[in-house]
Amino acid sequence: MAIQWFPGHMNKAKKDVAARLKGIDVVIEMLDARLPASSANPMIKALSRGKPTLKVLNKQDLADPNVTRLWLDWYNAKPGTRALGLDASERSPAQRLVAACRELVPNRGGLEKPIRVMICGIPNVGKSTLINTMTGRKIAKTGNMPGVTKGEQRILLADDVELYDTPGMLWPKIEVEEGGYNLAASGAVGRNAMDEEEVALELIAYLMRHYADALTARYRLDDISVLQDYEVLEMVAKKRGAMFGGGRPNMQKASEIVLTEFRDGVIGRITLERPDEWTAWVKKAKEL
Ligand code: G4P
Repeated sequence: MAIQWFPGHMNKAKKDVAARLKGIDVVIEMLDARLPASSANPMIKALSRGKPTLKVLNKQDLADPNVTRLWLDWYNAKPGTRALGLDASERSPAQRLVAACRELVPNRGGLEKPIRVMICGIPNVGKSTLINTMTGRKIAKTGNMPGVTKGEQRILLADDVELYDTPGMLWPKIEVEEGGYNLAASGAVGRNAMDEEEVALELIAYLMRHYADALTARYRLDDISVLQDYEVLEMVAKKRGAMFGGGRPNMQKASEIVLTEFRDGVIGRITLERPDEWTAWVKKAKEL
């Protein structure tokens, strides 16, 4: 598995975000609740130089609520860090963000010392959607162009809490193999960046371990406990009529079906990594 980013592009984005973070009191890092660790950008931590950080596990409507709780506890146990779960159905997200920011920087606040915050995160985690909800207007979507700050404005989340309306965007950095697959399954990395069948098979293998009931229910499968991941994908192909002439399963088509349905949340509320798994994956990657 290989995903290539353009180093020049990345360096510019890094510099832009570092410059903009200078006057910031609290960094709000948006993560995808289905893959909180894989959707983090480790550079944000380095660039924010130990500033208090609020981790927002967004799209929690798609994630497994039990696992979201594990992740929130995991982040909340870290010094200088608070975490909360969120999704686009939340009508007044600003109130919760403001409360968490105040806890993180109790010595700031008041009109003399407003709390200045910036939202950072990889593309597609929901930064623009959240900012739009809080401003009640449609901000120009920066697309997938990191570091666009032209015409940037500050939004008052409270009398003394200011949010910059251009999110700080950095591409994901793939530290562990499993994280790469999870990013691809979520749709955070471009469709052409990875082999869809490989990604779908990894996804199926994970679902077989943790969400076998949801998988069998969605595709009306019988007992899958003795099957291999590719055999399950073949069965999905058969069930959904994704077949070539001659009765051969169209694995590419079946992969697209599984990935699209996972992304749309119709297989169920699923999270692709747990804190203990992530720790083990990182350890394994370091040993390699
Ligand atoms: P970004 O600025 O971080 O790049 O992300 P953006 O807000 O553009 O959101 C990326 C996609 O994720 C959008 O879908 C958006 O609707 C969806 N999204 C954002 N927040 C949530 C959430 O809490 N839950 C769910 N389920 N989805 C969320 P899209 O298909 O790209 O566009 P559209 O359907 O909004 O047109």
